[in-house]
Amino acid sequence: MPTTPQTQVISQPLTLPCGKRLPNRLVKAPMEELLADFGGGLPNRLHHNLYNAWAKGGWGMIITGNVAIDDTHLGTPFDVVLPKPPYLEDLLESFRAYADSVTGRSCGVQESNRPLAVVQLVHAGRQSMRGSGRSVWQPAKAPSSVPMRPSDNLGIVGRALDHFMWGTPKEMDLSDIQEVKLRYAQASRLCYLAGFDGVELHASHGYLLAAFLSPKTNLRTDRYGGSNENRARLLLEIVQEVRNVVPPTFALGVKLNSCDYVSGGLTEEDALLNVKWLAETGGVDFIEISGGNYENPSFIMDDFDSEAEKVKLGGGEKKKEDQQGAKGEHVNPVSSRTRKREAFFQSFAKRCRSVVPERRSEEGEQGGGGGIKLILTGGLRTRNGISGVISSGDVDAAALARPAALYPDLASRLTDPTIPDGDPRADTPAYKVPAIGGLSAVPLKLVGAGWGT
Ligand SMILES: Cc1cc2nc3c(=O)[nH]c(=O)nc-3n(C[C@H](O)[C@H](O)[C@H](O)COP(=O)(O)O)c2cc1C
Repeated sequence: MPTTPQTQVISQPLTLPCGKRLPNRLVKAPMEELLADFGGGLPNRLHHNLYNAWAKGGWGMIITGNVAIDDTHLGTPFDVVLPKPPYLEDLLESFRAYADSVTGRSCGVQESNRPLAVVQLVHAGRQSMRGSGRSVWQPAKAPSSVPMRPSDNLGIVGRALDHFMWGTPKEMDLSDIQEVKLRYAQASRLCYLAGFDGVELHASHGYLLAAFLSPKTNLRTDRYGGSNENRARLLLEIVQEVRNVVPPTFALGVKLNSCDYVSGGLTEEDALLNVKWLAETGGVDFIEISGGNYENPSFIMDDFDSEAEKVKLGGGEKKKEDQQGAKGEHVNPVSSRTRKREAFFQSFAKRCRSVVPERRSEEGEQGGGGGIKLILTGGLRTRNGISGVISSGDVDAAALARPAALYPDLASRLTDPTIPDGDPRADTPAYKVPAIGGLSAVPLKLVGAGWGT
């Protein structure tokens, strides 16, 4: 079979510490499908059709959109949601059918070359809007009572809007925390029994576990707050609880923020400690790196520039070459960065290698030497860019979200050796998401900047 240098990099299989194998380095990133019944429901025929398309699309791993482990804390009103345990047989049946669609078993994808099927599990915490699974008067549960402020840029109007939409969350007590741990473990066991290959704990983008990790939203003074160790305790305990109820061959991943990109939030230094501690558990197979939250949704902002954001927060120095063109003229720093590199969070991934060294197998296969794997998400679009981040050794695999939504078979094209490297047919075609009415101009980051979502 002929090959090209870049497809060779992307098409390498990757074996996780649990022994499960991705047939290549491309991951379909988690995306809420918004296809369940209003108020949250189980996976249905629409999910099956969608995941069959991805299963046939050549991906090495498919991570589902987030599945809520608590039906009183939805992320959106159309999410897949698990009812309160105990889980009954019809729920297991529903998840079996879901697993069959994600693995491609229900649409004839070859077992030897099928994608790994991983369910993302979430508790939305303070980012669960009023009325999302509970009455509009019932506050969301969170590590501390820190109100949501995604519309702060609109002054007093924004405050009123935020109060109307989110309200102030209620601080969780220790029995709430116990309950969350139990729910994550029960949900993971269900996914295992249903035939999925693994689960991913959503600990980024400001949801409950990310809110515990962030010094801005975790003001607790008990053993779950106050220091980096204490803020990471809940996540690490959940890893342990999950591992206790699934076999070692079941994959466990964590989606983690590199930085919150909000003043007083989680910094890269904090995040590096989290990566280190997760690796030390010996029970985590991969970390998916992302960043931001609803107050700064960097993970879905086109042209996001992590270095420029750090400068805004006063925590980094923007390189001179990004501010000045060759002749000293001013250059838009964002477009300058975009031309050079498409991965939003690669500089953090590089730093992770100091705590999670790159491993190679004896045959020299990159990422083949065991140990926790790093997956980079955000902004990746081209074969050149993707093979570049993998061959740099900074990460082991690349995850794509919006391109995968538009082109479910994109992975097949990215790995197709009959399309030469550099040929635009191997990349995500340029796309523009049409605005509906004037919504894309709404001056709220969540609505305006994330319009492409
Ligand atoms: C429609 C949509 C839904 C998303 N839902 C989730 C989700 O359920 N869980 C999650 O971790 N990230 C979610 N994300 C974020 C993506 O996983 C990813 O981090 C982000 O889109 C950046 O990757 P991209 O530039 O390849 O789109 C979503 C993104 C989009 C566009």
